[in-house]
Amino acid sequence: MRIVFLGPPGVGKGTQAIRLARALGIVHLSTGDMLRQAAADKTPLGLQTQAYLSAGKLVPDDVMLELVRERLDKEDCSGGYLLDGFPRTLVQARSLDAMLTNGGTPLSAVVDLQLEVEALVRRLVARGREDDRPEVIRERLDQYKRQTAPLSDYYRERGLLHVVDGGGTPDAVFQRIRAEIDRIAPR
Ligand code: AP5
Ligand code: MG
Repeated sequence: MRIVFLGPPGVGKGTQAIRLARALGIVHLSTGDMLRQAAADKTPLGLQTQAYLSAGKLVPDDVMLELVRERLDKEDCSGGYLLDGFPRTLVQARSLDAMLTNGGTPLSAVVDLQLEVEALVRRLVARGREDDRPEVIRERLDQYKRQTAPLSDYYRERGLLHVVDGGGTPDAVFQRIRAEIDRIAPR
């Protein structure tokens, strides 16, 4: 399966993506993790993009598209993957579609995790990552609202969207996601 996780910062994309990818035996690809690793390793990509992460701004589309295209070309992705944090703009979504349609490997489903903003902020503040400072959280939420939230409609129109309540315990959220995935690919 080829799955995309959508949803605002702090909703639990990473937490749930790890579990679902393991359950389905597919690769988990978090673009945020890839960028943080590149920054830690001080690679050219990391040096180029670190300031965007620290400020809570989105990394430019062309940089992200090259990163994802290269990663999806690797052999381990041929058995399926879960994209966590990509696409995040309409340009990224359209480019991903074109890429996958050309390869005859369209997306199977988009899981859109949702939660009220107060709970998102509580989770992020409690985690305390470098970009979990209040002013950066505000910017990330704003970027989400303006650039990423419109992707819900984009995927709904294509019949791929599965909205899932991100509230409650991680186990409860996982059960809901699993139920949605089971509807498209029964176990
Ligand atoms: P990214 O790393 O993707 O961050 P994000 O989307 O802002 O979301 P988070 O990873 O913070 O939250 P999450 O939804 O994964 O929740 P998590 O499971 O961690 O991106 C970081 C930056 O990279 C961006 O700002 C941008 O600069 C850049 N970037 C990445 N992709 C890009 C792209 N495609 N285009 C352009 N730029 C890009 O959970 C959060 C916390 O809550 C954790 O502490 C967790 O333990 C806790 N938690 C999870 N579930 C629950 C639960 N059910 N109950 C209680 N606590 C919970
Ligand atoms: Mg994450």
